[in-house]
Amino acid sequence: MNLPKKINLANLPTPLEELAYKGKKFFIKRDDYTGLEFSGNKIRKLEYLLYQAKRSKTDVIFTCGGTQSNHCRATASAAARLGIKTRLFLWGNDSNIAQGNLLLDKIYGAEISFLNKKNYLNVNGIMTEEHEKLKKQNKNVYVIPEGGSTTLGIWGYVSFIDELKKQIDLKKIDGILCAAGTGGTAAGMLVGAAINKINLKILAVNVLYTKEELKRKIMLLAEGCIAGYKLNVKMNESNLEIIDGYSTEGYKNITDKKVKLINDFARSTGIILDPAYTGKAFNAYYDNSLTKGKGKKVIFLHSGGMFGVFANNGKYLRNL
Ligand SMILES: Cc1ncc(COP(=O)(O)O)c(C=O)c1O
Repeated sequence: MNLPKKINLANLPTPLEELAYKGKKFFIKRDDYTGLEFSGNKIRKLEYLLYQAKRSKTDVIFTCGGTQSNHCRATASAAARLGIKTRLFLWGNDSNIAQGNLLLDKIYGAEISFLNKKNYLNVNGIMTEEHEKLKKQNKNVYVIPEGGSTTLGIWGYVSFIDELKKQIDLKKIDGILCAAGTGGTAAGMLVGAAINKINLKILAVNVLYTKEELKRKIMLLAEGCIAGYKLNVKMNESNLEIIDGYSTEGYKNITDKKVKLINDFARSTGIILDPAYTGKAFNAYYDNSLTKGKGKKVIFLHSGGMFGVFANNGKYLRNL
């Protein structure tokens, strides 16, 4: 197997903690501890992507996401470390009192283009056009699609399974529940479990795309990775379950009821969850795993997102 190489940026392994909430024991994998500025699930993908960017002598990295994108911030911070410029194409508006991830993007000196929702639908086309312009100036551009979810980027979560299996006997675990945006995290774990021949359910909570769209994206990435790297593995599609209905308020919103649970969880465990991803995923975990007494059988993946809390301070304060 010709495994892709990576650059070391994340603090690995992250801890697997056994905690209790409302009297129920459960396991939580702390990928919010992959780092501080380079934190969350995105940095695992960026270790592979930035290795390639560095090797191909990149001048500028292009990537995209919402104004509070954790992926864009992680890219801007890690690229700054590597001496590469970043250009971000963000869905949303600029603000002279930028908070959270957008504030950090600015501190890192990322060049930012703000796009409305309609234009963002064509963000890949826009990035290609801008790429062509820079090519003519002999600039080397490395384009990272939304969420770093490519067949290379998802190796961050293929190798995550190797890390996790050293921490717990995965044969005794039913599954891992995670928030799913672009689906790369879930896709990587599916492939990692297949490589290790572990029958592990990946429970993906869709926060951005519909259930059908997300399932298609995850399977495309996972199958693309298996084919692209000529992996001799069989993936079991039934190991992927999308837990739908936890982001019906929309990607950029979160209901008061969900924030109340997030705040209560923080007060019991000290753990902060973000409003776009892990907060919604934890609400799903609470309903589907914890209250059904399966907390010890399903691992909750904390995929980071801390800075999004500060950009949504009003929502947290309203629900204390
Ligand atoms: C904190 C956090 N959790 C989860 C996700 C979802 O990961 P993925 O895009 O790989 O599905 C993201 C990014 O989209 C994120 O920033």
